[in-house]
Amino acid sequence: METPLIDPFARPISYLRVSVTDRCDFRCVYCMSENMSFLPKKELLTLEELDRMCSTFVRLGVEKLRITGGEPLVRRDIMKFFYSMTRHLDAGTLKELTLTTNGSQLERFAEDLYAAGVRRVNVSLDTLDEQKFADVTRWGRLPQVLRGIDAAQRAGLRVKINAVALKGFNEDELFSITDWCADRDIDLTWIEVMPMGDIGNEDRIGQYWKLDDLRADLAQRYTITDLPESTGGPARYVRLEETGQKIGFITPLTHNFCESCNRVRLTCTGELFMCLGQEDNADLRAPLRNHPGTDAPLEEAIRAAIARKPKGHDFDYSRQTVDGRVSRHMSHTGG
Ligand code: GTP
Ligand code: 5AD
Ligand code: SF4
Repeated sequence: METPLIDPFARPISYLRVSVTDRCDFRCVYCMSENMSFLPKKELLTLEELDRMCSTFVRLGVEKLRITGGEPLVRRDIMKFFYSMTRHLDAGTLKELTLTTNGSQLERFAEDLYAAGVRRVNVSLDTLDEQKFADVTRWGRLPQVLRGIDAAQRAGLRVKINAVALKGFNEDELFSITDWCADRDIDLTWIEVMPMGDIGNEDRIGQYWKLDDLRADLAQRYTITDLPESTGGPARYVRLEETGQKIGFITPLTHNFCESCNRVRLTCTGELFMCLGQEDNADLRAPLRNHPGTDAPLEEAIRAAIARKPKGHDFDYSRQTVDGRVSRHMSHTGG
């Protein structure tokens, strides 16, 4: 048995988020610019390389894999990769295989995902209004995503909605989104918008909707009970007594959760980011590609990277500037 991955602050690293593509069929305003240039294909890890990479992390004690993008389901043949991870679920070494998606391709892939061993899927959805959806994603079609969510539920996948809280955008939908999720037995998590990318972050300050305020708005209509920390993830959860619904809050800015961080992120080109909110990263593609016959150099590079994991991020909106701004786009690191 290999020594598990523990960072310098004694945090065990058991969760790997893997971005399998930087491409997306949408261009959410807080995530991408309108004219993104995407990476040439040869820069991307191949599906076989992704398998080797993830299998190495699983051998080193990673128990949860979340596949992200860009939009993971637009990568060609991506189901081959999901199916290749099923063996780790079957072996019991991997406890959870899951993904974060915009839902546009779920109608097509939901059953295959279930067959590969996926049981939960997080779908990004910020509004239930067709025109607003088209605006925030720049051209996405809401009905397509709603059909994808239906298909996921029919296939047996548990669905969680991630909604980015944007003042003046979805503030007026707080109750309608909450009720819509309750009616369908869908979990809901609100996310504070983070200053990522060169995409007019000054606008993000104007749109910044503090989740403490969102919670206070919710309290006007519902009785809110705090739930004890459960998933080891970044979200804090509450229950709405009237509906029995669980609502999550991801608040990297107002209450960061860095202290219990258990995760690292692999980009589609094989860089390992030890923190979403920091620029430091380690190249894992070279030790992987340059040594096709052995994983030892890759393992060594992973351990060296984990030894550099910082204590936390520096995001800060408090002075009305985007201090701690991270210049790479969210789609590069996979949210
Ligand atoms: P669960 O498995 O459902 O707990 O999912 P998760 O919250 O780990 O994953 P998801 O993809 O739903 O994450 C939602 C969002 O939370 C991400 O897209 C990020 O915006 C934010 N987030 C997740 N992890 C981190 C983190 O380590 N640091 C910061 N600052 N934000 C994070
Ligand atoms: N701030 C907060 N969340 C973001 N996401 C993308 N960009 C940002 C940002 N700047 C979210 C998406 C999706 C997840 C992968 O990350 O809405 O739910
Ligand atoms: Fe695509 Fe998700 Fe980024 Fe929107 S937030 S552009 S759906 S990767």
